[in-house]
Amino acid sequence: MIQITFLTNQGKVATAPENSNLLRVSLREQGGIPFKCGGGLCGTCKCRIESGREHTDDIKAKERKLISADELEEGYRLACQTFVQGDIAVSWEPRTPARSGSATAAAESGAG
Ligand code: FES
Repeated sequence: MIQITFLTNQGKVATAPENSNLLRVSLREQGGIPFKCGGGLCGTCKCRIESGREHTDDIKAKERKLISADELEEGYRLACQTFVQGDIAVSWEPRTPARSGSATAAAESGAG
């Protein structure tokens, strides 16, 4: 078994079999990584492998489409496309809570 630490979720630790899909572990153990499509298309599950990057599998073509080369360098991955063979720690941008008021939403979506 391997250990996955969900840093953005108060450092919650989950165990999983080797070669588990990161998003699936997050879903099963309520790790909290955001997602939408589960198929490498939307980019919602973008996260950063903070430690144990050597325990993740190769970057997929879908990830190269949605994550810049610089960010890939820094350890960013799509959780739904990442399989984990050893202990890792992962963080991600917390989703901003939904707010009422379209002016705020418009302002926020404008900033690339
Ligand atoms: S959930 Fe859509 S790319 Fe991973």
